[in-house]
Amino acid sequence: MDEATRLQYLQAMGIDVWVPRHQADSEPMAIEAHETTHTDSQQAWTDLQQQVSQCHSCDLCQTRTQTVFGVGNRHANWLLIGEAPGQNEDLQGEPFVGKAGQLLNEMLRAIGLDREQVYIANMLKCRPPNNRDPQADEVAACNGFLQQQIALLQPKIILAVGRIAAQNLLKTQQPLSRLRGTQHQLDGIPLVVVHHPAYLLRSLTEKAKAWEDLQFALSIYQTV
Ligand code: URA
Repeated sequence: MDEATRLQYLQAMGIDVWVPRHQADSEPMAIEAHETTHTDSQQAWTDLQQQVSQCHSCDLCQTRTQTVFGVGNRHANWLLIGEAPGQNEDLQGEPFVGKAGQLLNEMLRAIGLDREQVYIANMLKCRPPNNRDPQADEVAACNGFLQQQIALLQPKIILAVGRIAAQNLLKTQQPLSRLRGTQHQLDGIPLVVVHHPAYLLRSLTEKAKAWEDLQFALSIYQTV
């Protein structure tokens, strides 16, 4: 494989490639511009994560163990957005680490993706007590953080994981059955609604639907 093709593959996988300065003598400005952009965006992620960790915009700050910012590859093409941290996530500070998380990893693997290749976040950064549904004011208070994560990541496709995430992101009350299997848009980015991984546990029919959702998402991704 020639060097240009190798770099293209690595870039497509979201892996940063650093070129030593002496190799780039012919284009010093381009490399420096790249480094500046990279550093700026690292700083923006750090700043955002710090803002989230100190957030007191809604009452969930009183009951959380810690905020759950998001995890994964900050150059990922795929962004998965769930509903809110559950108990395990609240304790560990990472989204989708409980049973649903393990299933989510399997769902990703089914379409050839590793957890490390994608970025995973939730609509809410704090756990609602007893895992109750997020309230409208909590979604509104947290939305700015998610918008900034999307702006920094610039994903090629967004997966809304589960009904609650889908309805809130798309500002609709339509049932999941109507939302899945269609290409939506969120700020110009293709968005596909997939069943929550907990569905995989329920029955073979649900498993088949989750599989269809992922195949559909993959087919959309291949067109962008
Ligand atoms: N369910 C979600 O929607 N998000 C998590 O982080 C865990 C479970």
